[in-house]
Amino acid sequence: MLDLFSEIEEPEREELRALRKELEEANYKYYVLNMPTLSDREFDEKMHRLQALEAQFPDMFDPKSPTQHVGSDLAVTGYGLRVTGKGFEQVKHKYPMLSLANSYSREEIEEWLRKLPSGVEIVCELKYDGLSISLWYEHGVLVRALTRGDGQQGDDVIANIKTIPSIPWKIERNDIPDFFELRGEVLLPWERFEALNKEREEQEEPLFANPRNAASGTLKLQDPREVARRGLEAYLYYMLGENLPGSTHFERLDTARRWGFHISEAIKVCKNVDEVMAYIAYWDTERKNLPVATDGIVLKVNNLAQQEELGYTAKTPRWAIAYKFPAEKQLTLLKEITYQVGRTGVVTPVANLEPVQLSGTMVQRATLHNEDFIKSLDIRPGDRVWVEKGGEIIPKITGKEDTGNGVQDTDYQFITHCPECGAELVRVEGEAAWRCPNESGCPPQIKGKIEHFVSRKAMDIEGLGEETIDLFYQKGLLHNIADIYDLKLEDIAAQERLGEKSAQNILDGIEASKNVPWARVLFALGIRMVGETTAKKIARKYNTIDSLQWAAAEQLCAIEDVGPQIAENIVKYFEDIRNLEILDRLRRAGLQMEGEAAPEPTSDKLAGLSIVISGTFSHHSRDEYKAMIEANGGKNVGSVSKKTSFILAGENMGPEKRKKAEDLGIKMISEDDFLEML
Ligand code: IVH
Repeated sequence: MLDLFSEIEEPEREELRALRKELEEANYKYYVLNMPTLSDREFDEKMHRLQALEAQFPDMFDPKSPTQHVGSDLAVTGYGLRVTGKGFEQVKHKYPMLSLANSYSREEIEEWLRKLPSGVEIVCELKYDGLSISLWYEHGVLVRALTRGDGQQGDDVIANIKTIPSIPWKIERNDIPDFFELRGEVLLPWERFEALNKEREEQEEPLFANPRNAASGTLKLQDPREVARRGLEAYLYYMLGENLPGSTHFERLDTARRWGFHISEAIKVCKNVDEVMAYIAYWDTERKNLPVATDGIVLKVNNLAQQEELGYTAKTPRWAIAYKFPAEKQLTLLKEITYQVGRTGVVTPVANLEPVQLSGTMVQRATLHNEDFIKSLDIRPGDRVWVEKGGEIIPKITGKEDTGNGVQDTDYQFITHCPECGAELVRVEGEAAWRCPNESGCPPQIKGKIEHFVSRKAMDIEGLGEETIDLFYQKGLLHNIADIYDLKLEDIAAQERLGEKSAQNILDGIEASKNVPWARVLFALGIRMVGETTAKKIARKYNTIDSLQWAAAEQLCAIEDVGPQIAENIVKYFEDIRNLEILDRLRRAGLQMEGEAAPEPTSDKLAGLSIVISGTFSHHSRDEYKAMIEANGGKNVGSVSKKTSFILAGENMGPEKRKKAEDLGIKMISEDDFLEML
């Protein structure tokens, strides 16, 4: 009798478990990733159902259930969404993660082919230049995402990997094995890489040398929301496991594609070296149009039985080889290393080179990024170094000439004191950059902060350019941003080169800046990592400077785009008495320190809808469309998924997004139709 009952109950218990998992995921996507997938209404209905089921089965009480805690914005959750404390969990690979032997010429490829059984089929693929990742799927659920680590064990970065829209969290099919593993490459697309570096340049954060480094830095962040914001992508190229369908590598990738995985279309079965070389020739040019970085191609034996027979060396499979595209590079003399101090005090070493011609431009300076970069290349003035210009526009130094002299015994010594003000440099734990801590006494920092404050996107004070700021600084008229509002006509007009007319222009510009809205004032203050967009988002939530001043870091983290690091920078800014004095003077000068509160929804026409905005528009800006969606109860989400209600599609929508939308059958609505709809 009892057994019979429990059999009847079983589907409901199953439903309870599934709901817990689904709601936990929804919470995670909402709070941590800022990518909501359920409407509030759907969420509430499911939560009620779960509560009812939990009341029915008290023996299934679990303190970790989403009914028992509020959605958390920490990357630690109850069910499966695992991030361990500070570091990542280290996990042993099921199959070691090997690397590939490299080749650089037709001859080397021919030599490799000769060692293979005759008539063997070769699969040619692009070699993506990112970081390898191993995804474990158990019963269709993504349970681990491991970095290569040392090849034997890697870090489980699953919380960060789950921010990649093309990686399925769950595959609902009945033709999949209990366990399988997919390997691939995590990349930061060029567009995202350039935007990230631009943002970092504005914030005077050290730049990433290339998309690979940026992807690597991003994947190891302890803040999945920041990872989500940066927009990683992944391409998968290898499926492993027991009892998998198919007898060739090509078939397996095809199967993986059918199961919903992101597999590149640029895969070709080749039968001889000529076909391989034709593939190489085609992609060496065509790869420049790809959204991500590639550095070669990979050749793999197609037949899996043949792969097994060929086996492995200690480090690489014998059944695969990489061919690396030639990069344009030159050797030149590293004459001197000089240092630049930026607005936030970051000290950047710069290589001064004997000029060389590269991809049509003369190169004589290249950034050396930071101390670690110099150490890793083991370079010092007097060395002959390799300068490269790959897909990137910025030339980079990739190594030094091997003189065969063995290890030199003196390491290059990074400077210990600021070249501008002499203050002792500090290196913040966890950062690669050395900084000059003398914020209010170091000339480039003082001038840089003023330049940022008056810049077009900030207070937009015309007439106060770099040279004038430098002059006023030399003459003792400007020491900080508040001094701007104490400038007098006679002080300015007394300067050489500046007559009364230009002095009056400057004063008019200063006066006009008093009407600049609060969000831009906040951006102008130059708080580290608070860029233009972030400032806008903060100002919408905290519509007075007083409310912002007293906000705790955890509260600030609830704002979209604000991670723990930015929150801490804001808190620190308001803890500094010198900043408070400056703010007090700015307030008395009449600057806008208050703005409008975020508008409440004006209709519920879009309630429960998740809308992706893509492309460029003619009637309104993207931000305005975002505000409209929110004002009408909808949610603006960043990436296309099954849950997307529709895409507000402008001109020049990205081809990947369009394809994804078409594959998933998601409606695309034009700008005009959307406006009509509202
Ligand atoms: S197959 C056992 N295929 O290149 C062979 N690797 O230099 C496993 N890579 O560690 C690798 N694109 O991170 C394979 N289409 C591709 C690849 C690829 C990029 C990376 C991968 C590997 C590294 C070796």
